[in-house]
Amino acid sequence: MENVIVSASILSADLCALGKDIERAENAGCEYIHFDVMDGVFVPNISYGIPVLDSVSRIARNVLDVHLMITDPIRYIKAFSASGADIITFHYEACTDVMAVVDEIHSCGKKAGIAIKPATPASVLERFADKADMLLVMTVEPGFGGQGFNFDMLEKISELKKMLSERDLKIPIQVDGGINELTAELVKKAGAEILVAGSYLFNAPDMALAVRKILGR
Ligand code: DX5
Ligand code: ZN
Repeated sequence: MENVIVSASILSADLCALGKDIERAENAGCEYIHFDVMDGVFVPNISYGIPVLDSVSRIARNVLDVHLMITDPIRYIKAFSASGADIITFHYEACTDVMAVVDEIHSCGKKAGIAIKPATPASVLERFADKADMLLVMTVEPGFGGQGFNFDMLEKISELKKMLSERDLKIPIQVDGGINELTAELVKKAGAEILVAGSYLFNAPDMALAVRKILGR
């Protein structure tokens, strides 16, 4: 739990004042900026994509943590890499050849994350765990910000953490969806280290205080 990182999901930012909101999140102590890409096919919502990331990467100082909720993500890895992503996370459920996507991300010199939806068991990640740089356990159904945390996911996080520890793999577990000061405490106990938060941060009257609450400081 020593090294917890908050990744601010800008899906809940004011998109007309995105630069200002990113600066606010960075100044509040968010080490990563989480960029959610939705294609209206893999998830029932459409967000933003490559041209927006181009602009964001020009102003963001911190790590750009791109979460692809798109079908057949291998098609767009080079484009998101060129647009300034530092970490690219894609969904296990969205592709047929998971390793090919990880390799494509690595060949672009970026870090690769693999995400699973709430209904997907942690065990599917076992054979990729030593190849990925991060594993993302979705704690809501992907597609929208501001949803309630799925408490059944706590066991999945613990199970994944146990598997990683047994194999002495140091890669971090990220969680995304419904994170606030209460759920943050639970996911950290279960073994998560990178906590994505959107609505909780951007709706907070004092974002720096909200970040400290997530970190438990
Ligand atoms: C949901 C996205 C999340 C979302 C989190 O599909 O992947 O990153 O923005 O929002 P909150 O923190 O409001 O649940
Ligand atoms: Zn996300």
